[in-house]
Amino acid sequence: MKILIVGGGNMGSTYAASFLRSHIANKENMMILEKSPEKAIQLSAKDIGRVHGKPEDCIPHADLIILAVKPQDTQKLFQTIQPFVDDQQVFLSIMAGVKMKTIAEALGVHKVIRAMPNLPAQIGMGMTAFTSSDEVTRIELVTVQNLLNTTGKTVYVETEEAIDAATAISGSGPAYVFYFMRAMMESAKEMGFSESESELLVSQTFRGAVELHNKSNFSCNEWIQKVASKGGTTEAALKRFNGESLHQFIKDGAEAALHRAVELGKE
Ligand SMILES: NC(=O)c1ccc[n+]([C@@H]2O[C@H](COP(=O)([O-])OP(=O)(O)OC[C@H]3O[C@@H](n4cnc5c(N)ncnc54)[C@H](OP(=O)(O)O)[C@@H]3O)[C@@H](O)[C@H]2O)c1
Repeated sequence: MKILIVGGGNMGSTYAASFLRSHIANKENMMILEKSPEKAIQLSAKDIGRVHGKPEDCIPHADLIILAVKPQDTQKLFQTIQPFVDDQQVFLSIMAGVKMKTIAEALGVHKVIRAMPNLPAQIGMGMTAFTSSDEVTRIELVTVQNLLNTTGKTVYVETEEAIDAATAISGSGPAYVFYFMRAMMESAKEMGFSESESELLVSQTFRGAVELHNKSNFSCNEWIQKVASKGGTTEAALKRFNGESLHQFIKDGAEAALHRAVELGKE
């Protein structure tokens, strides 16, 4: 299968590198279409596939076309590639908020898959939710899922509404985690730790807690109870969090992200 990635930015180059690293694709079958000449030179140096500047040189030769440009560049992109696409090609879009129907209508194609990855895809620890139009065959879907699995874990969802919801949870989620980590690092510094000590204390705590959670059948609530003994330090912190409705604020934040994802889909 010949794969073309349109847009060799953060995600596009991450995808190319992941596919090659996992040997699920080889360099001869990997193409990247990048409009920025400077980026094209940098991409060529990375040796992650043949880099093209003109759609007519690569679009007609691809079986799978991955759309990885910024959502605001979508209309321009559609105009440039539409004359060269054909209806048998499969399109995988990772562009936030761009509906499958929009892509199908703008390009005059039917086989469209929409995925929402997140930033840890860069280190093979990503979380991607994806869905597809009815015209994508089972084999095509499995092939694309295998490719996406090289960047982390994947979940197939039935609707695009679920893609918006995944955007609010796993798409934006890494920023929520960094937000919490930053506050804890600031506390650590205020308590006298150096910058690097604060980072170590907090990042290893997050890592350990997530691993513990993943390697057990206990829920978050059960783990909280294991750490928080009656009248102890953790309980003091949790009392304050609950008093300030932190739990509800986090849920409200995710809800606001969902609302924005739905709005962006309409723009
Ligand atoms: N980064 C994330 O964590 C993340 C997570 C989930 C989803 N996404 C989605 O992934 C997509 C890509 O994000 P990104 O962070 O990788 O963006 P990015 O780094 O800006 O990469 C996009 C690349 O596409 C190029 N480009 C724009 N129009 C083009 C065209 N018509 N033909 C060929 N190349 C074109 C851009 O060139 P110029 O710089 O010259 O414009 C840029 O190099 C976005 O739609 C975003 O919503 C990203």
